[in-house]
Amino acid sequence: MVAVNELSLLAVAAFLASTGQAWSPKNSYVPANVTCDDDITLVRNATFQLSQNETEWLKKRSAYTEEALKDFLKRSLSNFSDSSILDDLFSGNSSTVPKIGIAASGGGYRAMLSGAGMIAAMDNRTDGANEHGLGGLLQSSTYLAGLSGGNWLTGTLSWNNWTSVQEIVNNFTNDDSIWDIDHSIVSPGGINIFKSGSRWDHISDAVEAKQKAGFNVSLADVWGRALAYNWFPSLYRGGVGYTWSTLRDAEVFQDGAMPFPISVADGRYPGTSVINLNATLFEFNPFEMGSWDPTLNSFTDIKYLGTNVSEGKPIHKGKCIAGFDNTGFIMGTSSTLFNQFLLRINDTSLPKFIVKLASHFLNDLSDDYNDIAIYSPNPFKDTDYQVGNASKSISDSRDLFLVDGGEDNQNVPLNPLIQKQRGLDVVFALDNSADTNQSWPDGASLVNTYERQFSSQGKHAAFPYVPDVNTFVNLGLNERPTFFGCDANNLTDLEYIPPLVVYIPNARHSFNGNQSTFKLSYSEKERIGMIQNGFEAATRNNFTQDADFMGCIGCAILRRKQQALNYTLPKECDKCFKNYCWDGKLNSTKAFGVSNAAAVQSAELASASSSVQSASATTSASKSSKGQDKDDSSVTTTESSTSKKNGAPAMLMMGQSPVNGIYTMLSVFATVFGLL
Ligand SMILES: *[C@@H]1O[C@H](CO)[C@@H](O)[C@H](O)[C@H]1NC(C)=O
Ligand SMILES: *[C@@H]1O[C@H](CO)[C@@H](O)[C@H](O)[C@H]1NC(C)=O
Ligand SMILES: *[C@@H]1O[C@H](CO)[C@@H](O)[C@H](O)[C@H]1NC(C)=O
Ligand SMILES: *[C@@H]1O[C@H](CO)[C@@H](O)[C@H](O)[C@H]1NC(C)=O
Ligand SMILES: *[C@@H]1O[C@H](CO)[C@@H](O)[C@H](O)[C@H]1NC(C)=O
Ligand SMILES: *[C@@H]1O[C@H](CO)[C@@H](O)[C@H](O)[C@H]1NC(C)=O
Ligand SMILES: *[C@@H]1O[C@H](CO)[C@@H](O)[C@H](O)[C@H]1NC(C)=O
Ligand SMILES: *[C@@H]1O[C@H](CO)[C@@H](O)[C@H](O)[C@H]1NC(C)=O
Ligand SMILES: *[C@@H]1O[C@H](CO)[C@@H](O)[C@H](O)[C@H]1NC(C)=O
Ligand SMILES: *[C@@H]1O[C@H](CO)[C@@H](O)[C@H](O)[C@H]1NC(C)=O
Ligand SMILES: *[C@@H]1O[C@H](CO)[C@@H](O)[C@H](O)[C@H]1NC(C)=O
Ligand SMILES: *[C@@H]1O[C@H](CO)[C@@H](O)[C@H](O)[C@H]1NC(C)=O
Repeated sequence: MVAVNELSLLAVAAFLASTGQAWSPKNSYVPANVTCDDDITLVRNATFQLSQNETEWLKKRSAYTEEALKDFLKRSLSNFSDSSILDDLFSGNSSTVPKIGIAASGGGYRAMLSGAGMIAAMDNRTDGANEHGLGGLLQSSTYLAGLSGGNWLTGTLSWNNWTSVQEIVNNFTNDDSIWDIDHSIVSPGGINIFKSGSRWDHISDAVEAKQKAGFNVSLADVWGRALAYNWFPSLYRGGVGYTWSTLRDAEVFQDGAMPFPISVADGRYPGTSVINLNATLFEFNPFEMGSWDPTLNSFTDIKYLGTNVSEGKPIHKGKCIAGFDNTGFIMGTSSTLFNQFLLRINDTSLPKFIVKLASHFLNDLSDDYNDIAIYSPNPFKDTDYQVGNASKSISDSRDLFLVDGGEDNQNVPLNPLIQKQRGLDVVFALDNSADTNQSWPDGASLVNTYERQFSSQGKHAAFPYVPDVNTFVNLGLNERPTFFGCDANNLTDLEYIPPLVVYIPNARHSFNGNQSTFKLSYSEKERIGMIQNGFEAATRNNFTQDADFMGCIGCAILRRKQQALNYTLPKECDKCFKNYCWDGKLNSTKAFGVSNAAAVQSAELASASSSVQSASATTSASKSSKGQDKDDSSVTTTESSTSKKNGAPAMLMMGQSPVNGIYTMLSVFATVFGLL
């Protein structure tokens, strides 16, 4: 990691201003000492218990969702014969009211924008959502999880006082509006070089100051800082002092007037770079960060990340660190895959520190560290909550390394929402992944989440049966909403009855929503096109393809409680379940366009890079951009040429299984830009 220089603390002494209590103590990117109770313990034993704070908060939220859901269901069942079940379920006892979660997948700006359209379709604040959309469903939801690009979406809404997609869209014409991504992150000012230059100077200052205060930094700091200007344009320097835990003080959160936001990242075992279904999955919520997996089974108070602890107790009694939980940093942590974009530095006039940092990672540390966010000191150091004989390597380690939540190929962040203790009845899986060679989803993310429950790390969780990806494509389950796990009686072999999953895949309606993951600038017209298409994908084209679609969503929401309590659904639900539930049929014939997601992303990366690079590198890029490489052969080709250039991009992952192919892809990227 990057060297530590404690002397330069002076450099940050200039930041003395301190606004709201929950903001970073120095109102800057630099974490700082604060006092905390002498006997404070920052880590708790998870053991499938929600935190007390979450439990308390849920009471406030349910008062709100119960009203909203009742309205939503009344509207959705209004054309159905018999809605008496609503009287049964909403009779004043909260435990009979269905609980809803929404998960927004990764996939860069494509996932952010398409997901925004899907969320907008569920938001009663969106024009048209109450007439030809699922308006009110978002207001009825308890949890909202995001991963990578999906987290840019959920984080933007949540940490802007629960603004709406509609309001963001209405403001697109303003300068420096939220999601003003006309220009790529690398040159945010477009032709205004001065603007780009000063932006990067500020980013550089912030990250350098954190490093000088004694904290390890990586490209994830740079990336999170750079992106934050798109998320929080109204805040000083894109929210340079804005912390994740600040949300606890926001009125809209305190009142339970917004869902509980959760961000997901994967843990990287020290000394390895392989991420698979055994990786430790981390979640960040407004109160805590940690994992339900046997390898950690604990959570830490997110506000005091950065504190040097042993067994959760500060090494220096009564002294904690605050301000480490910068909102942009945590949102960037979920999407470290994109760190690679910053390696494009030699193509720009970025400040020296950034160039040095990036080159440092490229040349000295090898690719092992290109994609990580460093949480050091490790908040879980010396803790002992592991279950059974699970590895203790995470709590033994001095540093905690987190990577993009999609690197285990569970690109829809369902893990936090299927936990038994959260007790959800239905989960909406918004899938904006690029799995097929046309960059549409093929259900791979659900397949992986399904499989994880049979691994040592996932066996405490349950997920409904889903078919293989070829079946997804052959039966068109990836082109329109599909329900999984419709009959609880068929799920009794699983650990517990998991929520019913409503799968909402990205599909073409009014706009080509299958943009490359690595397209990093969208004009206003493109942004609106993506959002509108997402709205249509979530509503069966504004109900024109099925006038009963909203009623069917109502049936899906009611299903678990109806079965558990033996109530009667409207008879129209039978037809809904026939139309939308996967019935167990398989057609595993190799489907057209199905490929492994890593190969698709590697093709996208290569083609994204070819648009900015010189002729020397285009050969390798165009080769894979055809999307024909079903294996990693194109990678091998590029590899030899890079290793020559700088020994470090050691192409760490040759000969690996497809699940780890994403690393190969990262390597290609580093390679291609290394040639610049
Ligand atoms: C916090 O206090 C400790 C002990 O006094 C000191 O060594 C450290 O540099 C301080 N850290 C920061 C970030 O100010
Ligand atoms: C949206 O739903 C919430 C919760 O039911 C309600 O308080 C609010 O007034 C609704 N807003 C609109 C614009 O319909
Ligand atoms: C669907 O509804 C959205 C939101 O009201 C609207 O922007 C879009 O134009 C509609 N699409 C069609 C095909 O009518
Ligand atoms: C949220 O609202 C509060 C109070 O109105 C305001 O001080 C704060 O700046 C807002 N936060 C953002 C990110 O806009
Ligand atoms: C939209 O613009 C208005 C007026 O400029 C501003 O008051 C509001 O905060 C903006 N909203 C968002 C979400 O940016
Ligand atoms: C997970 O770990 C178990 C044993 O610890 C091993 O048997 C299994 O193959 C691993 N699964 C994956 C996907 O690596
Ligand atoms: C939980 O809430 C209590 C007060 O009710 C507070 O003291 C504590 O810091 C909170 N913990 C977290 C992790 O938010
Ligand atoms: C964590 O909680 C579980 C369940 O209460 C308990 O069995 C286990 O011993 C606890 N672990 C530690 C290290 O206290
Ligand atoms: C399976 O799907 C393929 C490709 O869509 C199709 O050609 C074939 O007829 C299907 N087989 C069955 C048995 O339906
Ligand atoms: C469920 O209700 C139906 C009629 O409403 C009844 O025939 C059946 O016995 C009930 N089943 C259980 C398990 O209570
Ligand atoms: C029902 O359960 C069996 C395993 O017992 C599974 O193979 C099948 O796919 C399930 N059907 C549905 C529709 O989920
Ligand atoms: C940028 O250029 C410098 C000097 O030419 C070189 O040492 C460095 O490796 C390059 N960095 C990248 C990321 O290509």
